[in-house]
Amino acid sequence: MIIHEFDVIIVGAGGAGLRATLGTVEKGLKTACLTKVFPTRSHTVAAQGGISAALGNMGEDDWRFHFYDTVKGSDWLGDQDAIEYMCREAIPSVIELEHYGVPFSRTADGKIYQRAFGGMTTHYGEGQAQRTCAAADKTGHAILHTLYQQALKHHAEFFVEYVALDLVMENGECRGVIAWCLDDGLLHLFKAHATILATGGYGRTYFSCTSAHTVTGDGNAMVLRAGLPLQDMEFIQFHPTGIYGAGCLITEGARGEGGYLTNSEGERFMERYAPTAKDLASRDVVSRAMTMEIHAGRGVGELKDHLYLHLEHLPPALLHERLPGISETSRIFAGIDVTKQPIPVLPTVHYNMGGIPTNYHAEVVTLDGENPDHVVKGLMAIGEAACVSVHGANRLGSNSLLDLVVFGRAAALRCAELISPNQPHSDLNPDYYAEALARFEKIRNANGNSKTAEIRSAMQKTMQSKAAVFRTQSTLDEGVAEMKSVRESFENLGLTDRSLIWNTDLVEALELDNLLSQATVAIHAAANRHESRGGHAREDYPLRDDKNWLKHTLTWLQKNAVNIDYRPVHLYTLTDEVEMIAPKARVY
Ligand code: FUM
Repeated sequence: MIIHEFDVIIVGAGGAGLRATLGTVEKGLKTACLTKVFPTRSHTVAAQGGISAALGNMGEDDWRFHFYDTVKGSDWLGDQDAIEYMCREAIPSVIELEHYGVPFSRTADGKIYQRAFGGMTTHYGEGQAQRTCAAADKTGHAILHTLYQQALKHHAEFFVEYVALDLVMENGECRGVIAWCLDDGLLHLFKAHATILATGGYGRTYFSCTSAHTVTGDGNAMVLRAGLPLQDMEFIQFHPTGIYGAGCLITEGARGEGGYLTNSEGERFMERYAPTAKDLASRDVVSRAMTMEIHAGRGVGELKDHLYLHLEHLPPALLHERLPGISETSRIFAGIDVTKQPIPVLPTVHYNMGGIPTNYHAEVVTLDGENPDHVVKGLMAIGEAACVSVHGANRLGSNSLLDLVVFGRAAALRCAELISPNQPHSDLNPDYYAEALARFEKIRNANGNSKTAEIRSAMQKTMQSKAAVFRTQSTLDEGVAEMKSVRESFENLGLTDRSLIWNTDLVEALELDNLLSQATVAIHAAANRHESRGGHAREDYPLRDDKNWLKHTLTWLQKNAVNIDYRPVHLYTLTDEVEMIAPKARVY
């Protein structure tokens, strides 16, 4: 075991992890960033449409409008103090990115170009805001590369192709993390005063998703194994426009630039479901409308199981300048020329609103007796891994890149408040990581009959069919039972490669173990929530029920049992510059 001592450890080098890394080294803290993939291969690289901030470059805007839209988009499950923080800090955070060198697209007068995205309005629902700052349709790529370059410039230390195995917890406090280095096969103990999880979501619990295959929610699973809860895991976002069959993302920016959806009758059906916002209603609304069209027999194609997204009416020069990435993706994965043909699309799993509960400083919180906001010392979470909760039951498009940057920055600021550079570390009893090592060895030596790919496929099919856009008690109960047996089948796992150097067989098995625990708590939480809200649409409970369900779900996993409890939603703001918005009906 190689032992390292740092002020701060960041696990994950996507947008959130890199922003936190840069922020902590800028503050003089000795920081290590551990990542299982090379930083610029992190999934943020795939983010397309943009990052929201009420800059007002393309017309009137105000961060309070952004606050209103985000609260409404969240179907009132978002914590309004955190939403206020995010929407206000969006403006300096994006300007800071510009100064770091992000190559944003530009308006004729040289300002950052901003496009329309779903659910983004001016004057509290009156007008259409253009709030999403874009670098063509490769905004995540532009941000990720810039942050990595800045982190290198500030001499951040990267540990690349290190697989984080488990948190090291001592009496309820996080003392660091155990990781396995793929290159030399050694195990490493990273001790830190703050461990920041920036490990992304758990999209790969599903069969069809826009996430990279590496998106396995490793930090979330480590938190569950540490005996801490995850929050709001039932809220899983389907992006309306994944390419039919392949699942690749077609940015919402395509509709922001004037694209629209049609059914088999050539009807622009969103006009019926959302008469004002139409194709730019929030994602949960559009995904449900698409699913209803398909269920009503108005899907397109031989199987009538998808719909069309039209861009062919837009000028080719505009497509070339603003949507070059999706034009290429459509050619490769759907075999079509977007200047001439519609893109076949289907709602596809895209984002996890749930994750590790935190406050707006990025500190992990848990329920402790009567205290719903007890801070877990030494542990932080940011990005899609975290549930701050700024997205509540449904995230608005382009609020994710924003969340990464704002809370990556907030975590660094909090670390600088709490930690002095090179603060000494106390000794750590090896008993605190013995269990983590035993688990690793058990999986490495697994000699049963089931293959990782078979178990993973069973899990993904269960999630895909039993926790879909529309859910019922019977499908969810079936899903709970199926997931129990899928998870049990992991006990019969067999690996063929027992080596420690670049053992991808073992990496996939560890990732599967992580996915299984998250799928288990997600499907239990979905079966438990008897209402429809945001991304959780119950056919048997079609209405939002604020009386009984205006609360965050917390799920703990203890061996095979899922325990459920709740935290209150923060229905208050941080300052008096904006007022709390009381729950009301959500109309688009
Ligand atoms: O549609 C998109 O470009 C995705 C953006 C997002 O999820 O924020």
